[in-house]
Amino acid sequence: MTPLVFAFPGNEAAGQAIARTLDAELGQCEIRRFPDEESYVQIEAAVTGRAVAFVCTLDRPDQKFLPLAFAAATARTLGAASVGVVAPYLAYMRQDASFRPGDAISALHFGRFLSGSFDWLVTVDPHLHRLRSLDDIFAIPTTVVHAAPALSEWIRTNVRNPIVIGPDGESEQWVSQIAANLGAPYAVLQKERHGDRDVSITLPRTDLGLGRTPVLVDDMISTGVTMIEAMRHLQQVGARLPLCIGVHAIFADDAYSKLQQAGAANIVTCNTIAHVSNAIDLHGLLAEAVRAFLSPVTI
Ligand code: R5P
Repeated sequence: MTPLVFAFPGNEAAGQAIARTLDAELGQCEIRRFPDEESYVQIEAAVTGRAVAFVCTLDRPDQKFLPLAFAAATARTLGAASVGVVAPYLAYMRQDASFRPGDAISALHFGRFLSGSFDWLVTVDPHLHRLRSLDDIFAIPTTVVHAAPALSEWIRTNVRNPIVIGPDGESEQWVSQIAANLGAPYAVLQKERHGDRDVSITLPRTDLGLGRTPVLVDDMISTGVTMIEAMRHLQQVGARLPLCIGVHAIFADDAYSKLQQAGAANIVTCNTIAHVSNAIDLHGLLAEAVRAFLSPVTI
């Protein structure tokens, strides 16, 4: 039977690309809010016996998770053969430990919640810091799409003589791979986070390649303070105006305009969260990752 792909609001482009690539049907579902802010969910397609995928990127997750769980439960009630989720951005991965007594380890709980609703998950570069893999928190099969090859290709095409710079130790996993792909040098800065919007950055005693174009790469840009602090230090040591690349364009509040005002030469993101800065297309890679889960033999 032809698989069914449903795109949640804001995920239409990703849903269309996945359905088109996989020869799946793009189903209609209605997701809206009642006046009291409860969610209304209706699936307008025949799901009985079919493999179903919901596409819903999970930035601002608190507004999205409950309608998504309702949609998954409805698909099951209607007799779907399997129900998976494509979440190009996976939320709550940064809260992966208890930092103070009583802290919720939200990554763990969120993984459990999603595992309770879905048979499989596909995502892009989740923030894995203290977690070794998604298997640490998910009880269902997961596939991770890596953005680094696409980022490398974009830099190769658009930046002459780059040096790839990671703003903190966690970013070394991406920047080292991107730099190796490009045959370019890389450096990793040191970051200490003091609060949600308060980080301090120190420069390592390594060659920052001042004759090169600095390309700051991070997995996500949220408040933007990590990028802004990193740029401030680079400017102080006489580096050229940096280009900022984030995989996930979260951009809380006015983070995007603040980053522009701070002097970024350009701000580029992948289309895991729809944003004006999206310049790197990962929908084809997402579709290929979903293909295995929509094939009847794998479920
Ligand atoms: C954290 O370690 C991540 O890799 C990012 O550096 C961080 O989440 C970016 O957040 P913000 O834009 O709020 O500094």
